[in-house]
Amino acid sequence: MGMTAVYPGTFDPVTNGHLDIITRGGRLFEHVIVAILKNPDKEPLFSLPERMEILRAVVGPLPNVKVEAFDGLLVDYARSRGAQAIVRGLRALSDFEYEFQMALMNRRLGPDIETVYMMPSEAYSYVSSRLVKEVARLGGDVSALVPREVAERLRARVASGRSG
Ligand code: PNS
Repeated sequence: MGMTAVYPGTFDPVTNGHLDIITRGGRLFEHVIVAILKNPDKEPLFSLPERMEILRAVVGPLPNVKVEAFDGLLVDYARSRGAQAIVRGLRALSDFEYEFQMALMNRRLGPDIETVYMMPSEAYSYVSSRLVKEVARLGGDVSALVPREVAERLRARVASGRSG
């Protein structure tokens, strides 16, 4: 039987870098569950229902990928879904320390679940949700860095003055 992986994150908003990792994960695992954190510390630009809707549209063409929301401990959620792995993307050295701490904490909390890191295409190695939001808010073009659904919604937010 193939393995199930959870790909967790805030996805505020999902970028082409995230999508690249989801696509790679979908090739490696039988099932991938994109898991959106319900209550991040900071106020998100896109509400949870919006992020769910966007991600569901974006992963629509990938038959073995589904989208859910979670709260509580990631390892508990992963276990509840029968997942054996957590997938995370690693863009640059600057991601490493946070990811290293998280992977080892998750291993302590759930030794049965392995964290697997994947590198996105170098074309997206500098792309982050935070920078995408900042550039969009200041009127820059991010359409090559995010899925169409996100670019459209960002444009609408900027036009309505609610761009975070
Ligand atoms: O995309 P992000 O914001 O870097 O994702 C962070 C996320 C959602 C993976 C992380 O905050 C998380 O797993 N939160 C759930 C709570 C938890 O399990 N914390 C202990 C992990 S060390």
